[in-house]
Amino acid sequence: MSTKKYNVGVIGYGWAAAAHIDAINATGLAQVTAVYSSRPLDSAALSAKHGGNIKAYRSVDALLADPDVQVVDITSYPSQHCEQAVAAAKAGKHIILEKPMANSMEEVQRIVDAAEKNGVKGCVCFELRFSGQMESTKALIDQGLLGDIHYGEVDYYHGIGPWYGQYRWNIGKKDGGSALLTAGCHALDGLLMCMPGEVDSVMSLSTKSKSAYFTPYEYDTSAVTIVKFKNGAVGKCAAIVDCLQPYYFRTHLMGSHGSLLDNRLHSDRLKSDKSKWSTLSMKMCDSGDVSDHPYQSQFEAFFKALAEGREMPLTSFREALRTFKVIFAADRSAAEGGRPVKVD
Ligand SMILES: NC(=O)c1ccc[n+]([C@@H]2O[C@H](COP(=O)([O-])OP(=O)(O)OC[C@H]3O[C@@H](n4cnc5c(N)ncnc54)[C@H](O)[C@@H]3O)[C@@H](O)[C@H]2O)c1
Repeated sequence: MSTKKYNVGVIGYGWAAAAHIDAINATGLAQVTAVYSSRPLDSAALSAKHGGNIKAYRSVDALLADPDVQVVDITSYPSQHCEQAVAAAKAGKHIILEKPMANSMEEVQRIVDAAEKNGVKGCVCFELRFSGQMESTKALIDQGLLGDIHYGEVDYYHGIGPWYGQYRWNIGKKDGGSALLTAGCHALDGLLMCMPGEVDSVMSLSTKSKSAYFTPYEYDTSAVTIVKFKNGAVGKCAAIVDCLQPYYFRTHLMGSHGSLLDNRLHSDRLKSDKSKWSTLSMKMCDSGDVSDHPYQSQFEAFFKALAEGREMPLTSFREALRTFKVIFAADRSAAEGGRPVKVD
């Protein structure tokens, strides 16, 4: 593997960007050398704050024309993702793309097509796939401790009210999109990681809290989706951004040999007592704070894959496309009052 470090240009300089920059630099495999923001930023101040030598750009085109940048990291508003990602692909840059990839299926497909046409690789920030909780969950599934999973629930509960920085743009349909797109996508993606079978169809219903905190939202902020898999299994995903409670990323999986509820397990393969849970030690996804997210492990996996000329594991554009197809079908179902919608 090459020992050369990738130079990364970050597009957007908000909350997620700051966590990304530290995570990228901490991989030891890449370094942030450019930042684009609509606000005027000072190169020397950016370099002093984050380390290294960072050039500030006021134009995305100028950053994309920088021949020293090999990877672009898009952390802008969701409505800007498609145009910026397609331009980055055309400029021959590999792409880290924050979720949601974009707020329409047509735009997500354009991003994936542009990357494939221009021979660049992608990484979508479904970083929870690299979390301790999801890695342990996947490991025990792969070792057969749950047997064949016939039913699973992965849910996202996180109140995004006026106390939260993203609220200013998240309340609008243009950037927030839907409860699934803006945040619940992590849970739907987690469900598809735990239940990797092909999806047949989805049914979804949505509603909204009566709390004044959530009145400004232009879309329903609670949605529940039932996923029917082609192998007969059933999954459920609640995406709730209007709750008043601590952040909770909930997993409950049931199979022919046992069950997992968050970090609590019973498996008849371990001959344990099924009237009591056994608790597993794992680092839980228990915070919406970007500084707690496992970006570093995810970006390490991306840069290693780039150096080896292959797609990254778990969160490549193609893998994430599968999740977004289910999300857009679910949102269509909710818009049509819960009518089942086929996923192709
Ligand atoms: N994967 C995750 O878990 C996760 C977590 C947080 C955010 N995100 C995603 O990252 C992207 C950015 O979200 P964020 O939390 O960084 O939002 P943010 O509001 O901090 O930044 C969003 C955009 O606004 C710009 N911005 C911020 N403050 C500004 C100001 N004062 N004036 C002008 N522009 C300003 C930023 O440069 C950025 O382009 C979104 O797509 C979001 O969904 C993902």
